[in-house]
Amino acid sequence: DELKHWVASLPKVELHLHIEGSLEPDLMMALAEKHQLELPYANIEEVKNAYDFEDLQSFLDIYYFGASVLKDEDDFYQLMWSYLLTCKEDNVVHAEIMFDPQTHTERGIGFDVFMPGFKRAMQQAQQEWGQSCLLIMSFLRHLTEQSAIETLQASTPYLNDITAVGLDSGELGNPPEKFTKVFKMAKELGLKRVAHAGEEGPPDYVWGALKALDVHRIDHGVRSIEDPVLIAFLIDSQHPLTVCPLSNTKLKVFKHMQHHNVLQLLDLGLMATINADDPSYFGGYLNDNYFAIIDHLPIEKHQLEQLVKNSFNASFMSEEHKLKWL
Ligand code: ADE
Ligand code: ZN
Repeated sequence: DELKHWVASLPKVELHLHIEGSLEPDLMMALAEKHQLELPYANIEEVKNAYDFEDLQSFLDIYYFGASVLKDEDDFYQLMWSYLLTCKEDNVVHAEIMFDPQTHTERGIGFDVFMPGFKRAMQQAQQEWGQSCLLIMSFLRHLTEQSAIETLQASTPYLNDITAVGLDSGELGNPPEKFTKVFKMAKELGLKRVAHAGEEGPPDYVWGALKALDVHRIDHGVRSIEDPVLIAFLIDSQHPLTVCPLSNTKLKVFKHMQHHNVLQLLDLGLMATINADDPSYFGGYLNDNYFAIIDHLPIEKHQLEQLVKNSFNASFMSEEHKLKWL
């Protein structure tokens, strides 16, 4: 309908996107064939049927397995290039893209393989249509802090290409405080900070991310609603929440899109934004996430406008670059 056409045509920003979560089944199958790897799927249909999740962990198991087809520089180039083409398609003029180095280094694939692949695609998109994007290096919270510290150290030759550090993977049992030291080290290196919190985990994890990790943004954060003091804090501080509607329903954080609280968070005055998370696994890129809330929530044009405006303001782009769009 009309609202959808209007949103699709607006210049938008993506702030919560895992590049490994943009691996489409056709690229996965092609890379498995290229590297002669056995997949437990006979065809694309079977891959898509496997994307039926109970919770965050059941998704993560399939997501880490899928990433195992990524082996050489060109694979990472293809992965990034395919995602950046969807940015052009969706009118995503600026994207802050997360990657999980440990998913690859644990398999013996180093920064010298994936970083050149990512950078080549990003430079090409910048040259061909002026795509703006930057990288967020995300630590896997189910691994130790020592492993995150080693990852930060291994990233040293590429620090100029990395804007921020993040924290993702299984939330429950892995509170933000576990990573206090490595986030402090990242801050001292001049890196910005984000962390997944309050997706499956309780509001206390959002407090932990704010206090122990000194984050600029909270990824997800939807469970903040359970703590009125936290909500008051977030209204006052304007820490952005990078909310991912399709992800939250696919992973059963909310039973149905009609129950999603993003509109409530926005109306309370929190700095909420709309994002895609893992588009290949959750059924859609950024426009699809906007379409899902248009279809299922009583959202009006001015609220959509606010969400889009928030995503520019919540981004790490320079103030000068923001002015160009706002
Ligand atoms: N890694 C990729 N997507 C994630 C999510 N939604 N939550 C935690 N870790 C993730
Ligand atoms: Zn995420």
